[in-house]
Amino acid sequence: MSTTVWFLTSNAGKLEEAQHHFKQLNMEVKGLDLPENAIVEPQATDLETVARSKIAQAMHHLPSEGAMVMVEDAGLFVDALDGFPGVYSSHAFSTIGNHGLLRLLSHLVDDDPVRIKNLRSASFEAVAALWDGEKVLIGKGSCKGAIATEVQGEAGFGFDPVFIPADLDDSGAPLSPGTLGSISTHGQTFGVVGPYTKHQFSHRRRALEELLRQLPLYEPGE
Ligand code: IMP
Repeated sequence: MSTTVWFLTSNAGKLEEAQHHFKQLNMEVKGLDLPENAIVEPQATDLETVARSKIAQAMHHLPSEGAMVMVEDAGLFVDALDGFPGVYSSHAFSTIGNHGLLRLLSHLVDDDPVRIKNLRSASFEAVAALWDGEKVLIGKGSCKGAIATEVQGEAGFGFDPVFIPADLDDSGAPLSPGTLGSISTHGQTFGVVGPYTKHQFSHRRRALEELLRQLPLYEPGE
């Protein structure tokens, strides 16, 4: 019989991605779609604190005794804005959106393609937290890059159309601006390149993989 992980999400795409990863461990992932007011979003400035608080709350709503529960939180952290919108990314996106973010950075311009990427540097960060029945395991993933000067493309969701990921080397490590890596969007945003390319950079995938590495019998898949 396979172990069930209840994943606190109502997002079908996230659920599918987690199911794919956990299948390697013969673990089944099911969506835990609780009423909106069941989980209180804590006031915290970092994703791990938010994820741990949600795990602690979700544990009281599990459909079966002794099951595992997972949460995942992500956000966009812009260096020039001291990490804003960060844990407030969802709210920032639904209020000021991509155009509002671009306005906040409109003074950060430079003709030099490397300098402007440094001025507008940012990263997507993700934290996946799992209660395994005894303790909370944490996996973290990051995707470094820069904020574009205009909205580009319509693929993906959220801040994808304004985020240009840093090129990656063969091992998947991010390179500094101006260095061409073997994995590259050639200066285009996630909004232009779409999900297949984005998957190679994904902060969410990296967080899940780091989490899985802490579980017994994990063997890296594709
Ligand atoms: P969540 O915790 O994964 O729901 O992410 C919170 C918010 O951060 C989302 O509503 C988006 O605005 C933003 N965000 C997180 N990950 C991404 C991403 O991969 N692309 C674009 N926006 C993202």
